Amino acid sequence: MPSKPATVAFVGLGYVGLCTASVLTAKGIRVIGIDIDRERIDKLSKGTAPFHEPGLTPMLKTAVKKQRILFSTDINAVVEAETSFITVGTPSNPDGSINLSFVKEATKGLGSALTDSDHYHLVVVKSTVTPGTTSGTVQPILTSSSGKAIGEKLGLCSNPEFLAEGSAIKGTLQPDKIVIGASDKLSGEKLERLYKHVYSPRKIPTIVTNPTTAETIKYSSNAFLATRVSTINTLANICQRLPDADIETVSRAIGLDPRIGPLYLKAGPGYGGSCFHKDLQALISFSKTLDYDPILLSAVEDTNQFQAREIVKLTGRLLGSVENRRIAVLGLSFKKDTDDVRESASLKVIDELVKNNATVATYDPMAIENARKVLPEQVEFLADAKSCLKGAECCIIMTEWDEFYRLKPADFTGTMRTPNVVDARRVLSPAKTQGINYLAIGLGSARP
Ligand code: UDX
Repeated sequence: MPSKPATVAFVGLGYVGLCTASVLTAKGIRVIGIDIDRERIDKLSKGTAPFHEPGLTPMLKTAVKKQRILFSTDINAVVEAETSFITVGTPSNPDGSINLSFVKEATKGLGSALTDSDHYHLVVVKSTVTPGTTSGTVQPILTSSSGKAIGEKLGLCSNPEFLAEGSAIKGTLQPDKIVIGASDKLSGEKLERLYKHVYSPRKIPTIVTNPTTAETIKYSSNAFLATRVSTINTLANICQRLPDADIETVSRAIGLDPRIGPLYLKAGPGYGGSCFHKDLQALISFSKTLDYDPILLSAVEDTNQFQAREIVKLTGRLLGSVENRRIAVLGLSFKKDTDDVRESASLKVIDELVKNNATVATYDPMAIENARKVLPEQVEFLADAKSCLKGAECCIIMTEWDEFYRLKPADFTGTMRTPNVVDARRVLSPAKTQGINYLAIGLGSARP
């Protein structure tokens, strides 16, 4: 087994930083977690996670209890570590381009903290950054603020993550690959050694390349996945306009072709979450600085933007006008098993319904608190699915929560004023739609 690595620091304890840090502690590594948010640090020190992620809380609590993780707001704490991961956020500027201010700030702080250190320190950029950032932006800031060159005492790598919300802990414990963009040979070797220790005795496929290629891999992955979703949604919209076509069967069939594969072929109300939209916009904007307009990616984004309207259109087909009609929306988060509502299609649909003067009642097992902060005041939040359905003239299923799969026809027919259902996630099987006026994404209907 490779020798035990010393302490690892994480600068930025958002989703990626905290999940990765917690998994490293579970592998016996000592971690220092740094964040500028004092309130967050105080909560984390007590073992309280700032967001819901399956498996995170027990891991964090154990790490705190066993003192395998220490938290600080002071970036100078990185001197205790041999490796520092930069895991700060990379939000969008108003024009969609990437905002690197947190990355720059963290790099500067890191470099200054390392000035007097005699030990080798490896800096790893895990934040999603546009191609060329590690070499063109991080490296010059790091070397000037530390007064050191990349080589003997200082290392630098890009090391993108591919975590999906709801399965981040599992994804970190069992990654399908590790991508290392090394600024020099020693940096790459040090990071490879750290991961070998973490995953020993398993061997995870590892791609070692230069930083710019590593950064491009991350954007390519999200661009590809988002393209698949917009492609299947486009085909679903065609199926929906045919009397008897069904996208679910189409997906199953084309997914059997090994050239296509079965994943990311689920038609729905459009992709949400903190990454796809943000990263595609950043890549489009970045490509334009290279004098290239990636029209395919713009079409993927436009298709996604329009997809929520397809759901509103289906609702209109069942109700005519939605004005003054009571509509139950089941699901607020952008997908199941998360309380995250960022870019959620559900919020887009609700906004559109409210604009058209519908009365909107909602329920979500986890995301109500977050949705309440951003939805219009008149939206109602109910304690469970059945209370939400009560008296409604139409139900729209927006998120594929497991508990919605368990709903029975009587839950709709027995509680709703009129049992109209729009299924944006294909949650209800045909057997469960008896007695219901049912329209679904990608399901052809004889009705005009
Ligand atoms: C995504 C990537 O999967 C991850 O690798 C990257 O690091 C961050 O972005 P995440 O945003 O957590 O992760 O969600 P993901 O599970 O990929 O789903 C994104 C959106 O696409 C969701 O709204 C989901 O409902 C939708 N989706 C996904 C579909 O509509 N159909 C599919 O077949 C798959």
